[in-house]
Amino acid sequence: MSVKKVTVRELIKMKQEGRKIAMLTAYDYATAKILDEAGIDIVLVGDSLSNVFQGNETTLPVTVDEMLYHTKVVAKAVNRAMVVADMPFLSYQVSKKDAVYNAGRFLKEAGAQAVKIEGGRKIAHLVERLVSCGIPVMGHIGLTPQSVHALGGYRLVGREEEEQKTLLEDAKALEKAGCFLIVLEMVPAQLAKRITESVNIPTVGIGAGPHCDGQVLVVNDMLGLTDTNYRFVKRYANLKEEIKNAVLSYIDEVRNGEFPDASHSFN
Ligand code: KIV
Repeated sequence: MSVKKVTVRELIKMKQEGRKIAMLTAYDYATAKILDEAGIDIVLVGDSLSNVFQGNETTLPVTVDEMLYHTKVVAKAVNRAMVVADMPFLSYQVSKKDAVYNAGRFLKEAGAQAVKIEGGRKIAHLVERLVSCGIPVMGHIGLTPQSVHALGGYRLVGREEEEQKTLLEDAKALEKAGCFLIVLEMVPAQLAKRITESVNIPTVGIGAGPHCDGQVLVVNDMLGLTDTNYRFVKRYANLKEEIKNAVLSYIDEVRNGEFPDASHSFN
């Protein structure tokens, strides 16, 4: 049975009609399939996979080829949701040519419907170029983890008036350049509200309060698979504990000969 795919137009209509957008990250086939079957609107193959899948300190080490691999397996699992691939550090900042070539690979080879890039006014010219090639672009401002060293750590962005002004201008510049949606990360709730009200494209927040047009979380965090304890993350499950208990039971049953019993054996 064919399903109606979530499109750029549908996401903009959702903002206009006041319907909230639910987005989660995924990095593998099984998880992406569950999210899609549950009705998530956007599956983001985030470069956070560098942290939660590869065990790195930052998002900087993950490569285009690694992101392509994960995007490919996620896209295979998803029928309805929009699949967005995060473009990793230095895959788009160096030149327009790099940006188009690498972004194109995510659509052409991996089956994504859009890409996400970090930054405001300074990358607006790249957004314009990508959009002119038919590549839908999701923006990302506020805390931009690829600039963690320049920002001086993972912190709330937009407390000071100067930063607030910059973020508002960045959001407008990204809209003008053709972004279809903007992620707002670690931004005070009132500023996220102002930004959301000042652009016609949807905003999706993470650590940006309740006034955005949608929300996104890293799936490993919200499922309780990671040990991190961020204030903006709500844990909807405690899978680490559940997995550990299941493995403990298995070890126990193997060691005492309870598994496999007759019902799990062949005569
Ligand atoms: O990489 C990622 O998971 C992200 C989200 C936090 C928005 O960029």
